Amino acid sequence: MCMFARKLNRSLWLEPAETRFPSLTDTLDVDVVVIGAGITGVTTAHLLKEAGKSVALIESSGVGYGASGYTTAKLTVGHNLVYHDLIESLGEDVASGYARSNQEAIERIEAIVRDNSIDCDLERASNYVYTEREESVGAVEREAAAARRAGIDAELTTETDLPYPVRAAVRVDDQAQFHPWKYLAGLARTVDGDGSHVLELTRATSVRSGTPCEVETASGVIRAAHVVVATQMPFLDRGLYFTRAHPLKSYAIATRVDADSAPSGMYISVDQPTRSIRSTPSDGGGRMLIVGGEGGHKPGDDPDTKSRYAKLEAFMQERFGVSGAEYHWSTHDYVPVDKLPYIGRLRRGDDRVYVATGFAKWGLTKGTLAARVLSDAILGRANEWAELYDSTRVDLRRGATRFTKENAGVGLRFFRDRVRPRDGRKDVERLAPGEGTIARLGAKQYAVFRNDAGELGVLSARCTHLGCIVGWNAADRSWECPCHGSRFAEDGTLVQGPATADLPRESLPE
Ligand SMILES: Cc1cc2nc3c(=O)[nH]c(=O)nc-3n(C[C@H](O)[C@H](O)[C@H](O)COP(=O)(O)OP(=O)(O)OC[C@H]3O[C@@H](n4cnc5c(N)ncnc54)[C@H](O)[C@@H]3O)c2cc1C
Ligand code: FES
Repeated sequence: MCMFARKLNRSLWLEPAETRFPSLTDTLDVDVVVIGAGITGVTTAHLLKEAGKSVALIESSGVGYGASGYTTAKLTVGHNLVYHDLIESLGEDVASGYARSNQEAIERIEAIVRDNSIDCDLERASNYVYTEREESVGAVEREAAAARRAGIDAELTTETDLPYPVRAAVRVDDQAQFHPWKYLAGLARTVDGDGSHVLELTRATSVRSGTPCEVETASGVIRAAHVVVATQMPFLDRGLYFTRAHPLKSYAIATRVDADSAPSGMYISVDQPTRSIRSTPSDGGGRMLIVGGEGGHKPGDDPDTKSRYAKLEAFMQERFGVSGAEYHWSTHDYVPVDKLPYIGRLRRGDDRVYVATGFAKWGLTKGTLAARVLSDAILGRANEWAELYDSTRVDLRRGATRFTKENAGVGLRFFRDRVRPRDGRKDVERLAPGEGTIARLGAKQYAVFRNDAGELGVLSARCTHLGCIVGWNAADRSWECPCHGSRFAEDGTLVQGPATADLPRESLPE
């Protein structure tokens, strides 16, 4: 059994994948603490160690067990219809900076793989942003033109290696795909040793900025001159990042196919529902076909998540003639209100604590470029992209409407959850084994789950981050918070922040 027992579903990349780094057992002094061993944290730690710093990379679970282990793992500048949108809202310079910085990240990953001999199935591939619908051809044509204005060598085409016709596609060659866990595990090994440490099952619970900074964990304090919070969404409330980027779910499935029937390109449809397609080498021969999509809703906001996987399986059967899926996985990523990620200081005036978040489901390149921006800031080096992605930017033209809408939604949800009448007792009685529900009994709401043996587990339904009411995810048998994305296993154990504590156990009133 996996020592990081809290996997909610079966990601292709995490089976069987276990690094075995120790946990923190004592206090520690280093130059930099990096919190979170996803692509952002591991790459930042690697770059800092390479530059001569001593680093402690701490991870609440295992290396790569956050969003980076639940991705489709395409490395591309072709982020759906992004360039037309960026040019219209923020201008051509921003669009071209976005394109160049993401392409540089692909080249950097390739260089890291080569220089460190990391075996991670890295392959160059073409990326396609496509439509099957006549009414979307104009949008794809516009995107091809916008991508070229942003400096990308993009071609408009109708030729792909998909087994069904497309009406139009933007093709960008020389992009890449890889196995994210193999990459991160290999990179983490370059961090550990010579005065630097990789520490798994070590959760940070607070960060105090100062000289030195102090990172608190359950098993000891780490002191350092700088701290990088690379936890996907910062778990610190300072900086209010959870009001500036919002969680959206995505789902993926994978199954083994003959190498001949697997596409070699990487695909994302502009049509709704979105379909994201690629393949990867399979350990047992042939290739694994991966299909993603069915996302776009908030965590905890869909009572029927099982149907999302069923729709992806139906698509795989209809388009590729493959039935059933060996792997199903989902998680969320944070979408910023103004289209660009936040990379830099946690707060203005504090040059000691750094963050990176808001990668909008394209964080493998953005996490890599963030690592360069953050390590350069700590090393006192200039970085071309620091201003573009400045985490402390305040430019209301950029995202005011979305900011207002998203945060009003969170506020409304907070209020509605508390006034909604509900006959909780009946909800609990109706629960079958393996099912969960939110039940109101008197003034309080409970997260109630019936396990496979028929026993009831009762938890507080109030998320331990800021108190929103969690929702039940039936497919992953977990509790998810729609406000800022914290996730908890069925027994209340914290799986994903920004919360830092489990859901407390309760008992139902008589
Ligand atoms: C279904 C799906 C498909 C995607 N496909 C792509 C794709 O094809 N290409 C692409 O570029 N992007 C893709 N993305 C987005 C990408 O996966 C993410 O943007 C990226 O992995 C984020 O990396 P990260 O390092 O910031 O976060 P994470 O990988 O989540 O790493 C953060 C780490 O911090 C740890 N942590 C959290 N709190 C604490 C704490 N208090 N103490 C210690 N550790 C802590 C977590 O356990 C986690 O391991 C996809 C996302 C989804 C959901
Ligand atoms: S994640 Fe913020 S209230 Fe739940």
